[in-house]
Amino acid sequence: MSAHRVAMAVLAASALLLPGAQPAQAGTARQSTTGPAATDRSGYHVLTLRRAAPRDLRIGTAAAGGGHHVDQPYPDPFTYDEPYRRVLAHEFNSVSPENQMKWEFIHPERHTYNFGPADAIVKFARRHGQVVRGHTLLWHSQNPAWLQEGQFTKDELRAILKEHIVTVVGHYRGKIQQWDVANEILNENGEYRQENIFIRELGPGIVADAFRWAHQADPKAQLFLNDYGVEWPGAKVDAYEALAKQLLADRVPLRGFASQAHLSTRYGAPDQLAAVLQRFDALGLHTAITELDVRMDLPESGVPTAEQLQTQATYYKTVLDACLAVAGCNSFTIWGFTDKYSWVPVFFPSEGAATVMWDDFGRKPAYYALRNTLAAAHWGR
Ligand code: XIL
Repeated sequence: MSAHRVAMAVLAASALLLPGAQPAQAGTARQSTTGPAATDRSGYHVLTLRRAAPRDLRIGTAAAGGGHHVDQPYPDPFTYDEPYRRVLAHEFNSVSPENQMKWEFIHPERHTYNFGPADAIVKFARRHGQVVRGHTLLWHSQNPAWLQEGQFTKDELRAILKEHIVTVVGHYRGKIQQWDVANEILNENGEYRQENIFIRELGPGIVADAFRWAHQADPKAQLFLNDYGVEWPGAKVDAYEALAKQLLADRVPLRGFASQAHLSTRYGAPDQLAAVLQRFDALGLHTAITELDVRMDLPESGVPTAEQLQTQATYYKTVLDACLAVAGCNSFTIWGFTDKYSWVPVFFPSEGAATVMWDDFGRKPAYYALRNTLAAAHWGR
């Protein structure tokens, strides 16, 4: 039997059912006193990620649409795939627009904003008791041609960025829990990324301005720095720590630091992630995992082996454990929940199977690793 079928058989047998909650145990601050209340007819608890999660931790996913999906042979997933939407509503209590709030989608022409697709996600989130992570405002990628290729003076460019931030953040005022204000602004060596048109043309001081403008537009949203390659200590983490300290010293409204956590089994599990997050926690910042996925080199069959799935589950658990170990890590988001719509095969040829569910939403070991770890943190079992 293929690994996929093994997983499906397990799913068919156990579905989402877990034995009833054990008596509450004394434990960490993340534990509450009672287990899940709802049981199904056979006396089993129907447990999803969001129900399993400790109350102070949001469990999120990207909501699929735009970006690489545009070139795929299906309509925008979030807008049409009903089974997908049911899982999205059922399993998660935080959503991140995968592409729908990026410049090229939300601000396609200089004087045109396209809020429709992102509004639909915000509405869905509200209906299903989910918070929204806004993504993103200052980035080098997925910017519209009118911006990247326009001939603007420095003053014009600065005014364009300010108008964008005030307009977009203002449009969603009160509806966004956390904004990824600055995305991927540093290189691996800790220097500012010169591909970022705003940083290149206006200098790194523009980062502080972006935070200030966002804060003015929505004082309650928690404003984040977000990047990949910060799962291990090194030059990039050092530079982010220095930047965070400087921004805080300058009274810039920075509230959080996030690790995207796009991982590959090629590079080993991120076993120092808790220590990295702790450094930002020590500055008084929230921390978050914002885009977790764990890709792997697929065998010729295209189907991961049972061993690969186990390794993947361990990586997912390592990242969740890191977040659970850090008091101010209150948001844990995976970058899509089904391989059906994952960006990975499109961007990393020969790698794949990076999410916690198969194309048909069957759960992989990684899903159960997350759910069991959440339940253990919540109810101490
Ligand atoms: C990816 C999306 O998943 C794709 O649909 C799109 O084609 C490219 O961008 N870091 C980020 C995310 O901050 O916005 C990226 O999302 C993945 C890497």
